[in-house]
Amino acid sequence: MPSILVIDDDVSICETLELYLAEEGYLVDTAQSGTEGLNKYVSKPADVVILDIRLPDVDGFSVLEDLREDNENVKVIMITAFHDMETTINAMKGGAFDYIHKPVNVDELDMAIRKALKSLEMEKKIEGLLTEPSRSFRVGDIIGTGNEMREIFKTIGTVSQSRTTVLIQGESGTGKELIAKVIHHNTSPDEPFIAVNCSAIVETLLESELFGHEKGSFTGAIARKLGKFELARYGTVFLDEISEMSINLQAKLLRVLQEMEFERVGGKDKVKVNARIMTATNKDLKTMVNEGKFRDDLYYRLNIVAITIPPLRTRRQDISPLIDYLLAKINLDLHKKVIGVSDEMMDIFMKYHWPGNIRELENLLVRACVVAKGQVLGKSDFPELGADDAVKVTPNEIDGIFKPSAPGKLLTLDEVEERYIRKVVKETDINKGEICEVLGISRPTFERKLEKYGITFERE
Ligand SMILES: Nc1ncnc2c1ncn2[C@@H]1O[C@H](COP(=O)(O)OP(=O)(O)OP(=O)(O)O)[C@@H](O)[C@H]1O
Ligand SMILES: [Mg+2]
Repeated sequence: MPSILVIDDDVSICETLELYLAEEGYLVDTAQSGTEGLNKYVSKPADVVILDIRLPDVDGFSVLEDLREDNENVKVIMITAFHDMETTINAMKGGAFDYIHKPVNVDELDMAIRKALKSLEMEKKIEGLLTEPSRSFRVGDIIGTGNEMREIFKTIGTVSQSRTTVLIQGESGTGKELIAKVIHHNTSPDEPFIAVNCSAIVETLLESELFGHEKGSFTGAIARKLGKFELARYGTVFLDEISEMSINLQAKLLRVLQEMEFERVGGKDKVKVNARIMTATNKDLKTMVNEGKFRDDLYYRLNIVAITIPPLRTRRQDISPLIDYLLAKINLDLHKKVIGVSDEMMDIFMKYHWPGNIRELENLLVRACVVAKGQVLGKSDFPELGADDAVKVTPNEIDGIFKPSAPGKLLTLDEVEERYIRKVVKETDINKGEICEVLGISRPTFERKLEKYGITFERE
């Protein structure tokens, strides 16, 4: 419900307006002096302030100035007597939103309030839209065919009917943010989607970024600032790279999720959270919980619904449709007419391990399209990719398989061998002969090891 604060020393005007506006569905508060009005505004900011120019203690202008210092975007409608015309114009220059004459005509007042609220809404929307590139986020914008992706589509459908907290996990470039946006656009398309990268901002700033701060709450806080949770309104706050959030802030976030309200930094008033929260990470949060690096109670709150996006190398059937989809997009952006990639290139793509997943594919295609002469992208258009890229396992992934099974316990050689063979079998597409070549062992040795570790080889 939009709120209105009426500041006028004339008690009868205050009462009449309060009655009328309350009936119109607004939350109304009144004050009979400039100081009282200011105090009320600072402790509980109204969406619109109706302000008399002539007040007993301070004049309306300085109240306007103070209000604007507290919140630059405050919508103030000045009430003035006719002979105040010139001062009124000055008031407009001083940042008033509108002015109306005494005696107050309710239709005129109604109109001014509606305009002010509309403008407020637009401003908030724009702030939300700043993080939003201009394209649609329909389910059709997610390319995916296999079983795992089908399950993800189903989950997207289900969570779009509610406002459940969703945790999206997946390697970098697998489409975590894309999926978050699709869910958002299916749930609350007219509300803001606000993404915050938890790793990109230092802890103290992140806190005020999320929860906002009051004027003077720390050096540099020259005015009140609304945090993302407030700006997102009934939309979505998307906390990206949640694994990087400090333990201290994790505790605060947990409290917000439990109570669904919070205080701005340096403030006492409770602010209600209406926004839906989605989080994303490319780390294994469960492991971080086990290692004591992430709060388990917070993990369970965030993990109400989890979506885990498989890496591209385990869903190679999507490579070709993704190329078609991405090329169509790139052609539009770059005014090109590229129709596809050569068979030879497709072969390399099908074997490549794609550490950067779909983002990497997209970047490669963009670069290739920029330089390509022909309509079909060939090997020479992708100088970054050689044939031997096909079975590379990145250093990061190798680190991952050496993780001890229990804290402080080192792996035996057998365990390392087993994990490495599993990884190569599971995450590459190459046949047994090629695997033996990569591992540098003979075919019988390979067969023996498969049997020893109980690894099944499903591809042949
Ligand atoms: N299934 C998909 N279909 C079509 N485009 C996709 C798909 N998945 C990802 N993309 C595109 O790939 C790019 C990377 O996706 P996105 O930014 O959502 O990934 P991310 O998981 O958030 O990556 P990072 O971990 O690097 O932040 C985007 O341009 C996105 O539109
Ligand atoms: Mg991302």
